[in-house]
Formats: sequence, structure tokens, C-alpha cells
Amino acid sequence: RRLILASKVQSVSTMAKEEQNVGNVKQQLAKLFESALNATVPNEPDVEPLVAACTAKFGDYQCNNAMGLWSKIKGKQNEFKGPPAVGQAIMRNLPQSEMVESCSVAGPGFVNVVLSKNWIAKSLQKMLIDGIDTWAPRLAIKRAVVDFSSPNIAKEMHVGHLRSTIIGDTLARMLEFSHVEVLRRNHVGDWGTQFGMLIEFLFEKFPNWEDVTETAVGDLQAFYKASKQRFDSDPEFKEKAQKAVVRLQGGEERYRKAWAQICEISRNEFNRVYQCLGVHIEEKGESFYNPYIPEVLKELTSKNLVEDSQGARVIFIEGFNIPLIVVKSDGGFNYASTDLAALWYRLNEEKADWIIYVTDVGQQQHFDMVFRAAKRAGWFPAEDNTYPKASHVGFGLVLGEDGKRFRTRNTEVVRLVDLLDEAKSRSKTALIDRGKDVEWSEEELEQTAEAVGYGAVKYADLKNNRLTNYTFNFDQMLNDKGNTAVYLLYAHARICSIIRKSGKDVEELKNTGTIVLDHADERALGLHLLQFSEIVEEGCTNLLPNVLCEYLYNLSENFTRFYSNCQVVGSAEETSRLLLCEATATVMRKCFHLLGIVPVYKI
Ligand code: ARG
Repeated sequence: RRLILASKVQSVSTMAKEEQNVGNVKQQLAKLFESALNATVPNEPDVEPLVAACTAKFGDYQCNNAMGLWSKIKGKQNEFKGPPAVGQAIMRNLPQSEMVESCSVAGPGFVNVVLSKNWIAKSLQKMLIDGIDTWAPRLAIKRAVVDFSSPNIAKEMHVGHLRSTIIGDTLARMLEFSHVEVLRRNHVGDWGTQFGMLIEFLFEKFPNWEDVTETAVGDLQAFYKASKQRFDSDPEFKEKAQKAVVRLQGGEERYRKAWAQICEISRNEFNRVYQCLGVHIEEKGESFYNPYIPEVLKELTSKNLVEDSQGARVIFIEGFNIPLIVVKSDGGFNYASTDLAALWYRLNEEKADWIIYVTDVGQQQHFDMVFRAAKRAGWFPAEDNTYPKASHVGFGLVLGEDGKRFRTRNTEVVRLVDLLDEAKSRSKTALIDRGKDVEWSEEELEQTAEAVGYGAVKYADLKNNRLTNYTFNFDQMLNDKGNTAVYLLYAHARICSIIRKSGKDVEELKNTGTIVLDHADERALGLHLLQFSEIVEEGCTNLLPNVLCEYLYNLSENFTRFYSNCQVVGSAEETSRLLLCEATATVMRKCFHLLGIVPVYKI
């Protein structure tokens, strides 16, 4: 299960021939350049072709191996005078291919490639016929665990968890599209000493706890806070709470049952959020891994990783000035011991090749240390670019208008369901305002308001590089201009309406018509469409959803340019242009799908 990553092309793609992804231009060009490189310097094996899309006016793609190769062969006997000559030779040795229209060498040996517009057109048409799934990237891994969302029982599910939910869901979707089996894991914080004080507090508040209903309990979070206060100020209560922990962990029924009830109440709240967002995730909370901790620690101890330190058991890790505590001085396990057990389980029981954790950047150090400990234990190969591997996907803060951590005006915390409700109701008002002449059925209006409102919240989050903080602003994210979900959803609906109004049967045209990309704006749109696959691949490899958002926004801009310069309906090129509209709408819908956004067809 140890697969080598082609690190230089920054990709997790396999190159197996039968599996080769027909949509990926970069990969296909890399294949051509691979043989060109072999022919140019037969004595330098294993030279990875460095091919990238470029914005240079000389071409669509560029191969920049010449300089690197030159520094390798300079001094040895060779026929070249310098990098440009190496570039020239690479170009001469490039095999004939219908995908390439012309090549040139620029500067210090860059080989520029202009793709054939007929080949681009043919590739688009093939996608329309065979479906966009034929453009799915092929990654070198079979199974991934994505650990995301992961709120804590009885505590607030806050905007940080919203970010984790949205980013994690998108990463899972992108990997799933790329033929990876994804185990979506909700690592719910459902275990720990805090349950002692909470249960003891609730028993006091509700002497007949067994008969108490969920609505009577109401706000668990408030009880959690109150119990914490009691714990900190009342030594008698503190003692009771500590005993409760022992009774709970010892499996005493009344305590176990109360714990299960508390979890259920929180779970219902979480599920409302997941339902709004259309997120599917399987809960395997901290308690699930509890039984595995002793064995895992035994293994780590036998490998001499675990040491005593001030009454606790810890793992020292080079480069960190604090150790990773794995058994607290009171003998209890903690967040780190649970994560080590979870990691062990995911590697050995779930056989995941890639384990991905989506949390705020504040937890970076925790994961660094856990991964390093696992590496020392030999759970991961020593080299970085091999599988299995673990990655932490960190993200920044959500800020309010005041530049501080996001909070609603009156309450201390933001309830996520309320936030999503507000997004929906605002978008509903806007839909009614804007589409005065649109006939909405009640159901259509509801569904569209949800698609636009929730989509806006998701997109506003995903479009930023995840590491940067961003400001939460309803007016901005619900604006129908600029880089927003609303603008993009409208753009898609408009394309669908162009096709509808043409009165033509596009399904039929896919087989009978031909795409021609003679106008520069047609060609630019066609090329951009064709780059979808490599963008998804890049998003997966670097775990960055924002590259997909950027792609989608550029796609919509490319389409606008095309549509304002090329008449579609009623022109001589109508068939070809309708097919381009259809291809654009198809790729947009796939982007929406990967971003967890529901497309709308009517505005
Ligand atoms: N429950 C944690 C929190 O709210 C996140 C858990 C992330 N996953 C993990 N395996 N540690 O911050």
C-alpha cells in the first residue's frame, strides 16, 4: 500500500494507461513530453516532465524542463550549448499528436504548446456524449478518511464547526468524484470528564431525570456552562462530579443512560444543520475509540515512545518544547490518546491510504505531534510523499463586522441553525423582489431560497484560501454581482434559459451537431472547460477547495465574454454555440455539486 507520489508534478495521479483520464490535458501532454525528454537525453532516466497551463501569449501549456536538465548535463559530454538548445531539442522530439497545433521555444528554453482547437472541440463533444464523469481525475489512492465537522456534545456547535463541515464535505465530494472511497467521519467530542459534572448537575436539576423530555432540557449548552461554574466554585459538587465520571466510565447504568440521552439531544441539533447543508457524515465519536486506547499505548510503550513525566505519561517529539501527553496524571486518557487510537484504527481496521483532518489552524500543533508520534512508531513511511499518509487541513477564523470573532448582535454565540435560517429568509425576500414577473409555486420558492441561501453561505466560505480569516457578511454573500454563489447560480440559470428558449433539442444536437471553436472567445471558453479535470485534481492534491471556486468564477466570466461577442440563437453557428452553452452548464453543475451547492434552473 505504499505508493510513490510523483512529487514533481505535484499530483497524486496514476499514469496507468487503461485508467488514464481522458479529460486531463496536463497529464496527456506530460506523456508526450516524457518521450520527448527520453529522446533528448537518453542517458538521464527518471526525468519528470514539468508541464503546466500558462497564461503566456505564446501558448496554452508550457514544459519547463530545459533549465533543470541543462544543470544536470552541463559539464558532462553533450551536444547542447545551453538551456535554449535543450528546449529546441525537446520540441523537435515531441511526438506527433492531434492535440498539439504548434510549439515554440521561448526565453531560457520553455517549450510552449498551442493546443489544436479541433482537438479541444472534439474532447468537449465527447464529454457531452459520454458524461462529465469521464473527466474525473484518477488518484493514486483507494480509500480516504475525512474527519470533519466533529462538534462537541453539550457544547456549542460554532462557526468553526460550520467551516469544518463545509470544507470537509467539499473535500470528500472532490475525492469521491475522483474515484476515491471516502469514509466521512464525525469525530464528535462525546467523552471526557466534563460529562461527570454535567450529568450530576442535570440529576440535581431534574430529580426524575429518566422522565425528562428533550424539550424540557432545552438548552444543554446553558446547563453545561452552569455545571462548569458549579464545578469551579463548589468543592462538594466537584467531588460529586469526579465520582460521577468514575461511575460513568465504570458503566453504571443510570449514568450511562443519562450520557446516551445527552448525546442524543445534541445529535438532533447537529443533524438539523447537516440536513440544511445536505451533508452526510457518519458519527464515530471519541467514545468509539476508547476501548482501543490501552492496546495502542501498549504498542507505543513497547516501542519506547512513551515516558513518565511529572506523573503523566508523555511522548517527546523533536522540535517541540512540550511533550504530547497521552495519559494524564490522574490516569485518564485525553484528546491526544484518543486521536492516536483513532489514527491506529483508521490505518489498520479501515485501511485508509489518506487520513484527512479538518479543524481550525489552532489545532495544527496537536496534529503535527500526533502524526510525528505515529511516524516514530512506524505507522507511516519515513518519506513524505508516500502513502499511507495523514494531513491536517487547517482553516482560519470567521470574523464579524467588528473584526472580532463572529457573533450575532444580541447573543453570545451564533446558533448555526439560526444563521442558516436567516440566509434562507434573506434570499427568499431577494428572490421575490427581484423576480416580480417570475411565477413561483410555494414549493419552488422554498427550494430556490434554500439553494441560494445555503449555497451563498457555503461559497462565501469556500472561495477563500482556507487558511485566511474571512468576514461573515450576509449582504456581501447574497449580492447577485461579484464572486458570489448568487451570481454563479444566476449565470447557470441564464445559460439554461438560453438553451430552453432556442427551442432546440440539445440531447439530439450532441450527436448530430459539431462544435467549432473559430472565434477567440469560443476557443478560450472551450479550453477553460477542458481544464476542469486538472483543477479538481489540484484541489484534491493540495486539499484546497478555493481553486475550484476560482475556476468556477473564471468559467462564468469566460462564458460572459463569449456570450457578449458571439451571437448564439439565430446565428449560423447556432448548433455549435448551443453545445458550448450546454458544456458550460454541465461543468458548472458539476462544480456546484462538488461545492455542495444545489443548482437552480429558473430565476
Ligand atoms: N471536537 C473537536 C473540536 O471541536 C474537533 C475534533 C477533530 N478531530 C479529531 N480527530 N481530533 O475542536
